[in-house]
Amino acid sequence: MKIGCPKEIKPQEFRVGMTPNAAQEAVARGHQVLIESGAGIGAGFDNDAYVAAGAQIIDTAEEVFATADMIVKVKEPQAVERKMLREGQLLFTYLHLAPDPDQTHDLLESGCTAIAYETVTDANGGLPLLAPMSEVAGRLAPQVGSWTLQKANGGRGVLMGGVPGVGPAKVVVIGGGVVGTHAAKIAAGMGADVTVLDRSLPRLRYLDDVFGGTFKNQYSTAGATAELIQDADMVIGAVLIPGAAAPKLVSRAQLSTMKPGAVLVDVAIDQGGCFETSKATTHADPIYDVDGIMHYCVANMPGAVARTSTIALGNATMPFMLSLADKGWKQACQDDPHLMEGLNVHAGKLTYYAVGKALGIDVVSPNVVVKS
Ligand SMILES: NC(=O)c1ccc[n+]([C@@H]2O[C@H](COP(=O)([O-])OP(=O)(O)OC[C@H]3O[C@@H](n4cnc5c(N)ncnc54)[C@H](O)[C@@H]3O)[C@@H](O)[C@H]2O)c1
Repeated sequence: MKIGCPKEIKPQEFRVGMTPNAAQEAVARGHQVLIESGAGIGAGFDNDAYVAAGAQIIDTAEEVFATADMIVKVKEPQAVERKMLREGQLLFTYLHLAPDPDQTHDLLESGCTAIAYETVTDANGGLPLLAPMSEVAGRLAPQVGSWTLQKANGGRGVLMGGVPGVGPAKVVVIGGGVVGTHAAKIAAGMGADVTVLDRSLPRLRYLDDVFGGTFKNQYSTAGATAELIQDADMVIGAVLIPGAAAPKLVSRAQLSTMKPGAVLVDVAIDQGGCFETSKATTHADPIYDVDGIMHYCVANMPGAVARTSTIALGNATMPFMLSLADKGWKQACQDDPHLMEGLNVHAGKLTYYAVGKALGIDVVSPNVVVKS
């Protein structure tokens, strides 16, 4: 199969869909890998690294799209890219179609087959192609939060680990899933005094069993949150209610109960944010002040560490990419029901129910189209 990887063109996106290692694995199986010139530069992979892996460097995105049987990307195709997709071509990338009717209509019109990273599942009910980015964002949250806590950045001027004779920062993590657990591990590793709140008792039991001596946990109620934030130097928002906007768990009125210069890091901002005063920011201008409380609300946190994020995403997508290339998408999906969950669009038909419901478009079962 000819596998094409264009350079990402969404603003501030430095990741790339295929690492040289992934390209090398595909080439070793007899596939042809076409990388747009400079596609990996933002993640620290130059053209030579891909050539050494056996890939071909292609001058333009147009050529990559025109030649490849499968396009492997990171972000959803932009309008100009959607025009280059064609009938029978396979697209494997993040799509997030539910809030994006324009993209959905363009993909349907193109006749391509599109498999979305974010809806591929695993045997434990998890989302294996979203998890690596949650791990990155979680681990990054205390890092950016501790920078924001510095006096020159508007914070309280508190050091995460304290020093002998001076206590550590107090960090509250709301939501103990993938993001929250990784955030808590790193904050505790920096020496902070960390408490994780979650509403799932099984999750709290897991956190207690595995991390009992490293950080504390508490059942999440409005009362517990109100009490903990008063004393916190940093609050990390990491909640998710699947398919819904994030619940607002800290109100504007509550900011006045917090210590001046305390920091809110709202990782859940991509779902609308879990603090009333959160609004999405960018890496270029990540923090702002509301009532003396510093907010960090970057919606694409993994972009800050494009190299780590690219490799982490590539590790997760590679087995699926190879299976699609080796078997073709129909056989690969028939052999793996979790990959089949990723099928969103085929030949002008929508194949993912939640997207159809959100956009009022009829859906055809993926089981039907893979057998067609
Ligand atoms: N900003 C970014 O760059 C970025 C990157 C990755 C993920 N995210 C977002 O981070 C959020 C968390 O993702 P995740 O992968 O950790 O999800 P997850 O499903 O693994 O964890 C969410 C946790 O929130 C808990 N929860 C739900 N309601 C709660 C409440 N009221 N109080 C306390 N806990 C509650 C759930 O029980 C669950 O354990 C999502 O909104 C995700 O989209 C953002």
